[in-house]
Amino acid sequence: MELRVGWEELGRIDRGRIIHPSTPLRNHQEAGPLVFTRGKGIWLTAADGREYIDGLSCLWNVNIGHGRAEVAEAVFAQMRELEFVPVFFGMSHPPVIQLAETLAALGEQKRPRVYFTTTGSEAVETAIKLARYHWRLLGRPGKHKILFRTHAYHGVTLGALSANGIPAYRDPYGPLAPGFVQLPAPHCYRCELGLTYSGCGIACATALEETIRREGRDSVAAFIAEPVQGTGGVIVPPPEYFPMVQRICREHEVLFIADEIITGFGRTGRMFAVDHWGVEPDIMTIAKGVTSGYLPLGAACLTEAVYAPFEAADVTLLHGFTYNGHPAACVAALKNLEILVQERLVDNAAAMGAYLQERLRELAERPYVGQIRGLGLLAAVELVADKASRRPFEPSQKVGDRVRDAARGHGLLCRAIGDSIALAPPLVITRAEVDLVISALDRALREVLG
Ligand SMILES: Cc1ncc(COP(=O)(O)O)c(C=O)c1O
Repeated sequence: MELRVGWEELGRIDRGRIIHPSTPLRNHQEAGPLVFTRGKGIWLTAADGREYIDGLSCLWNVNIGHGRAEVAEAVFAQMRELEFVPVFFGMSHPPVIQLAETLAALGEQKRPRVYFTTTGSEAVETAIKLARYHWRLLGRPGKHKILFRTHAYHGVTLGALSANGIPAYRDPYGPLAPGFVQLPAPHCYRCELGLTYSGCGIACATALEETIRREGRDSVAAFIAEPVQGTGGVIVPPPEYFPMVQRICREHEVLFIADEIITGFGRTGRMFAVDHWGVEPDIMTIAKGVTSGYLPLGAACLTEAVYAPFEAADVTLLHGFTYNGHPAACVAALKNLEILVQERLVDNAAAMGAYLQERLRELAERPYVGQIRGLGLLAAVELVADKASRRPFEPSQKVGDRVRDAARGHGLLCRAIGDSIALAPPLVITRAEVDLVISALDRALREVLG
């Protein structure tokens, strides 16, 4: 059914009908939706014809950029041939088999067992459930607790949300699931332990060991972490952090789940962000960049060792989502990954990421720029009221939101996380386009903060 009405009428219907996430309701009633109709590369075109740079790759996911017709054509061909069969009851189809093989190869066969989902939240739910089941199958059902960190974001379903370290996402929905324990984040600029890097001895990592000892290693199933915390504010850990985490997890028989849902598929300048530190998680969750958003798909990828007890016990896994390994989504993922590899977009992300970070550092001297942080094409600029003391602005001033809105006015879409302005443009970005991002952000900052 096609809606044959003008843009104004569409906006009115949107306001009356659609429940938008992460959208202040009253604002939306007044401003109405920003309706987009086309995309190409890093650019999005709005209904009024205005062009915007997609400075966050929509939701940190459109890695290959918008408008790649090859993906659409591959999906079209698949849907004409076979639109759907499930992967339940031993059924399968070529795209899901090919994608499992491709993912295992991209992960250098370290996590060759793949459980497909539709969303990232489902991938995290799956990782948590399979971690618990793994220990149960090994005769250790007491190992059920999941350790997570402050500022963590792993999705919105109740299990994934119970591992969320951002109060605003959690608080309205309690009670959350029991058995989740919070640890400090590796956030050196705002260390919750009140310490200073590197004299701290990476106390946020040793806190993991202390927590496992305190809770009892026989009660802990897994530790879950984003390699770079995204929604929490683009928090990059110090280089020692993940190697320490891996050693502690192995010593105490705790599974290490790396949530690469934002950071996977080139975002940080490596295929997976854990490759920066040479660590090898037991379970990796992926979504977003695996299809670049052309269709939804996620997965939990397991090492042979994590999977082995399931095979040994001849398990019938009663944990399935109808659309696990949907054929059209698998084809979109395959074409997306082909583009990512053939066009060497991971290398481009490393080169353009370095250039973006270099250009952002030009802003560092300004009195209101507290910290520039990031890795590859994942970056944030934290704005502060007082640079020396790192004192934040009063929340009522809504500085981050105002800068984001001003950037929109200058044709740049970015995200305000409190007063941190997050950037994560598509991996196809060029040097000249990075310059455009910087100049729009610069104008927005001057407009709001002088
Ligand atoms: C690190 C991380 N994990 C999990 C999720 C949840 O993914 P989805 O929104 O596809 O459920 C997100 C989404 O932003 C994420 O950033």
